[in-house]
Amino acid sequence: MTARDLETRQVVRVAVNGASRELIGAPSRRLSTALREELGLTGTKIGCHAGDCGACTVLLDAAAVCACLVAVGQCDGRTVTTVEGLASADGALSDLQRAFVAHGAAQCGICTPGMLMAAEGLLRATPHPDEAAVRDALAGVLCRCTGYTKIVEAVLAVASGSVVDAPAPAAGHAVGARAARLDAPAKVTGRERFGADAWPAAASIGTTPALPTLAMRVVRSPYPHAAFRVGDLAAFVAAHAGVVDVIAAADVPHNAYAIFPDLRDQPVLADGVVRFRGEAVLAAVGDEAALAAIADADWPLQWTALAAHESIASALDAAARGEPVHARWPDNVLCRGRVVSGDVGAAFAAAPAHVASMSFETRHVEHAYIEPEAGWAEVVEVAGGGPRRVRIWACTQTPYMDRDEIAHVLDIEPGRVHIVPSAIGGGFGGKLDLSVQPLLAVAAWKLGRPVRLVYERPDSMRSTTKRHPASMRARAACDGEGRLVAYDFEADFDTGPYSSWGPTVANRVPIHASGPYRVDAVRALTRAVITNDSVCGAFRGFGVPQSTLVGEALLDALAAESGIDALEFRWRNALVAGDRTPTGQTLAASVGLRACLDALRPAWSAAGHAASTFNAAAAASCSPHRRGRGIACMWYGIGNTVIANPSTMRGALRWSAGRGAHLFLYNGAQEIGQGTATILPQMLADAVGLPLECVEQVMGDTDRTADAGKSSASRQTFVSGNAARFAGEALRRQLVERLGFAVADAGAVALSLDGPALTGRLHGSERHADLRDWPADANGDLAVATGHFNPPTVPLDADGQGVPYATYGFAAQIAEVEVDTEFGTVKLVTIHAAHDVGRAINPTLVEGQIQGGIAQGIGMALMEEYVNGRTDNLHDYLIPTVGDVPPIEVHLIEDPEPLGPWGAKGVGEPALVATAPAILAAIRDATGAELFEVPVTPSRLRAAILAVR
Ligand code: FES
Repeated sequence: MTARDLETRQVVRVAVNGASRELIGAPSRRLSTALREELGLTGTKIGCHAGDCGACTVLLDAAAVCACLVAVGQCDGRTVTTVEGLASADGALSDLQRAFVAHGAAQCGICTPGMLMAAEGLLRATPHPDEAAVRDALAGVLCRCTGYTKIVEAVLAVASGSVVDAPAPAAGHAVGARAARLDAPAKVTGRERFGADAWPAAASIGTTPALPTLAMRVVRSPYPHAAFRVGDLAAFVAAHAGVVDVIAAADVPHNAYAIFPDLRDQPVLADGVVRFRGEAVLAAVGDEAALAAIADADWPLQWTALAAHESIASALDAAARGEPVHARWPDNVLCRGRVVSGDVGAAFAAAPAHVASMSFETRHVEHAYIEPEAGWAEVVEVAGGGPRRVRIWACTQTPYMDRDEIAHVLDIEPGRVHIVPSAIGGGFGGKLDLSVQPLLAVAAWKLGRPVRLVYERPDSMRSTTKRHPASMRARAACDGEGRLVAYDFEADFDTGPYSSWGPTVANRVPIHASGPYRVDAVRALTRAVITNDSVCGAFRGFGVPQSTLVGEALLDALAAESGIDALEFRWRNALVAGDRTPTGQTLAASVGLRACLDALRPAWSAAGHAASTFNAAAAASCSPHRRGRGIACMWYGIGNTVIANPSTMRGALRWSAGRGAHLFLYNGAQEIGQGTATILPQMLADAVGLPLECVEQVMGDTDRTADAGKSSASRQTFVSGNAARFAGEALRRQLVERLGFAVADAGAVALSLDGPALTGRLHGSERHADLRDWPADANGDLAVATGHFNPPTVPLDADGQGVPYATYGFAAQIAEVEVDTEFGTVKLVTIHAAHDVGRAINPTLVEGQIQGGIAQGIGMALMEEYVNGRTDNLHDYLIPTVGDVPPIEVHLIEDPEPLGPWGAKGVGEPALVATAPAILAAIRDATGAELFEVPVTPSRLRAAILAVR
């Protein structure tokens, strides 16, 4: 017996959530692995396997620890408490869990178990901590969604003994209520199943003996550009026990996919050439330990490095030399965007009172969702002998697009692909693109066995899309009254080697480039440049956060030259209802920017006074610290740019002996933390006129829901919200009619459910139906109705003239900062955010979106810079911790959108767009430094400060 054998047989006795357990195996294995894979306690999440994210935080005895850094052998004779151990034996939530639910502290929920356990450790040791202690205790757990504000509020509520459950809204009053998220209980108990939390135990093909699920390991390119040859894979498999197969490009029926079907350019597995560092080359399947044991150098690959073009300038130069990344795009330009309105040249030639110009650079930004991509695929025989299908469970923002692209890759009909979305631990645009799905599908399809793949953090960061780096040049002019007269903008976006969402960025940016202001003459031109750097795609704002940086800086420069206060300058130029945009669209209503600015006036004045007072005292004491304030505005078109944008939702009435009568929502709008699992039921419930608490739903399953489009572009509240509303109204008409009322009275009939009874009341008359008498269809629905909405748009012409969006979100934000001018460090003091959301369907969730977006804006402004091959982890790639996010005051402005459900628009992307420019403005105000690049790292800021001294 070897020493290794002895080690693997070791028994460790540990009390887990109060129960005595024996963990048998290698004592050096991770506690997180034992909890999840051996005890099934998947509430403990894995975000990095390196102790950076804290998602796996558990209590070891009384101490909060990262379970990924604790060896099982360290736990012998000790107690471990996981999130599954917080609720009482009868399932009642603890006060801490209730507080998280009530405060909306869980959005996607992937960090929630770790946050809860960190807070639990604090509260057990210190039952009444102050806010500083709470922030200290949570500092080791990263959250990418919430901005931490509501998490801190929830813990403080427990500390002060003031936990109050969110009241259930009455029938007809769900819209506008601060209702608790319907998915919150699953998130705070660890029951929520993310991509890595479930897998089939065995193959489900009836003709095949049950076989265990195979693991997958993806072999990736270490080069940004290289040719390669694959050796003898059959011999490789034969030589490696436990390896079942190695999938290569030749195994993929159609080895190309994309966001836009006419651009399919990205291979599932590279075929002889790789175009970015991290591109998938081989996918080995087999026993997980056997796959892990293979050294990188052992894979049968022969590489020949090629010249790589990892910047915009390098790629354009290469194209000029006739060396494109793809022959299809000889100039290395994937696409161009253009909006031209008025005569910009003439406007600048007419000697306007003030002109400002600027160049600005941004860097790659990583989504850094805490959940790495994960999922599984299996092949499914169809009852009755139909053609077999493939079922894929994975984290995705867009199940229907996944279905269609997987069908293309496998060369089968879309109806033979079944996408079952897992819960998704953050997306922000990064899970709009395929990741694990095609690799799993191809392997399962070839082998007829279920295959599972969980990305490690470096896999996730190397291989998935990023925010586009931008190289921007712009100039703006105003008249003597401070009124904008011209805006001229050119930008190149580094889109990487494959198309992804490059066309969307190139097209959306010119529309928004001149900001939410009246400008007679606008020229905005963009290019998406193909390079050998990371593939860039969708990331909360589709390029608008980048272009807003330069636009808002130019406005500050013009305001200063005009001698006009920065807020007042913006108010004077703000779009109002009736104005025309640079695309020639007339904004009929719901243009709430001036209301946003008005809401911020008190904070703006107070911030100016506070900064002056602070700086006077600092100067007197020779302190290097200086404070400043900055303001920025934004607008954002809700939904897809021009292209079709439909959503279909179905609502039904059901009855069962166990559940009683209830509504059922077929909800194809994928929940990614933003709240579609709650606000769409809120809207359905009010449209039908029944309580929110009676709504159940299925989400995103392509066999069961209709296509609601992707969860991106801030579109689900507006687009799918309308679809849910129309479905609810149609269902209500059916119910009213079946009760015997006139359909014309549908709006006046009060409906209620009681056991199996549906009751309608109108003007003192009451009618009842026993739902047990209503026949159910194959789904169990007694009545079902469909709602559909596709916002009206008009295609853009060659000059970008048309109606790209049906409505826009508007916002203004103020940042107050304190800068250490010696070290170049920036501390945020406060952020004030005023957002015109049309109507807040659920104010708690809207605030959470804004707070979370602001945290991402802070990261973009001050710290986030992804460098492929160097920052592929969460200790080199920094995102804001709870200590980096200041108090955030949110002002909700409700200027109703007539086309929106109950007037609602969207807020997911608008939340972050104004943050970084406001922070940069505040730094300029504090220091006088000129800033032309983000992130403003301490070294860059220090250099900029020295440059103006
Ligand atoms: Fe914290 Fe999503 S809720 S990472």
